[in-house]
Amino acid sequence: MAQFPPLQNDMILRAAKGKPTERTPVWVMRQAGRYLPEFREVRKDHDFFSMCRTPEIACEITVQPLRRYKGLLDAAIIFSDILVIPQALGMTVEMVPGKGPHFPEPLVEPKDVERLLRPGPVDIKAQLGYVLEAITLTRHQLGGQVPLLGFVGAPWTLLAYMIEGGGSKTLSKAKSWLYRYPGACHQLLERLTDACEAFLVAQIRAGAQMVQVFDSWAGELGPADYAEFSLPYNIAIAKRVKAALRKSDQPALAETPMAVFPKGAYYALPAYADSDYDVVSLDWTMDPVMARNALGCNKTLQGNLDPSTLFAPHNSIRERTRSMLTQFAGAPLHGQCHIANLGHGMYPDHSPEALRVFLETVHQVSTELRQR
Ligand code: CP3
Repeated sequence: MAQFPPLQNDMILRAAKGKPTERTPVWVMRQAGRYLPEFREVRKDHDFFSMCRTPEIACEITVQPLRRYKGLLDAAIIFSDILVIPQALGMTVEMVPGKGPHFPEPLVEPKDVERLLRPGPVDIKAQLGYVLEAITLTRHQLGGQVPLLGFVGAPWTLLAYMIEGGGSKTLSKAKSWLYRYPGACHQLLERLTDACEAFLVAQIRAGAQMVQVFDSWAGELGPADYAEFSLPYNIAIAKRVKAALRKSDQPALAETPMAVFPKGAYYALPAYADSDYDVVSLDWTMDPVMARNALGCNKTLQGNLDPSTLFAPHNSIRERTRSMLTQFAGAPLHGQCHIANLGHGMYPDHSPEALRVFLETVHQVSTELRQR
């Protein structure tokens, strides 16, 4: 069992478990990425997935934002991608600069599901060992400054990429599958759920101190389709990860906080109230007060400043961040049970200085709000 340096700042982990914090902890999705010149400097010499597969490079990219925003970020998130799971199932995925992910051979018909591998826990470790190594290395490299987060893509979001073959405006291919081949979809979703479970358990065992399930395309489904094709799988992942860890030789790891990000699916919030997730991430279209009402007081909320706010003049970033924090700070929790974040990831054309303004404002305003 690895011995890691003691943790100096555990604010995110406390907030995730509903314990009091002296201010609102903060991190941002895609905090390591193309908006940082130091990321672009490394990226220019390497293919994206080769970077993910080289633990030293993944570690370096993960710590870049912590170095730049010294003392301002309360977590690191391991540099990797949600599409490493489709790769582990045998699919080819390329990252095309300026275009995003591309699958040269997407799933076209149900029989294509049969050519996918069926990894169990051991295979996941073999296939994605490079992510686990990157996590262990980074956890050491961080020296206990802040917790290290791990992640997976939700089964529905992964299925959608595997069928669309990349980004899409309508997801019409993936949705045709849901309606024409529901049986094959459930089979595939079940297989992806197994892979997500095994991968999250392995990430936590390798050193991830909190994990997030990214359901980035949740809101593309209406309430009934979400209830059939996404929600039950996301719910199962949290339940099964915690159960597996409880039964393992390190049962204390079952306390590792788990977050879910059902982007766009505001109607799904009440269903997560009774789930095993500790944290529910909100995108910027969700109202913090409505979300709190939907989820009750036993979940921590994460989010949710519109990323485009970072294009506004600095004073306006400060005002809008203050307004967001004030909404989350409303009764009954007085600003506790909140992790500040953007409502989605950083954009490549964001200015690093704009992010600094956001981070500094969260520190300053949330400290003030606690003193009221
Ligand atoms: O947040 C972080 O800093 C950690 C690393 C991280 C990346 N991708 C690195 C990345 C995380 C958590 C992800 C998750 C991810 N990947 C999601 C879920 C979150 C979300 O944004 O909704 C999704 C849908 C993907 C799939 C993906 N990867 C897309 C659609 C793209 C291209 C579009 C874009 O924003 O660039 C990627 C590429 C990607 N993943 C980059 C980075 C730093 C940029 C790649 C490059 O340099 O070309």
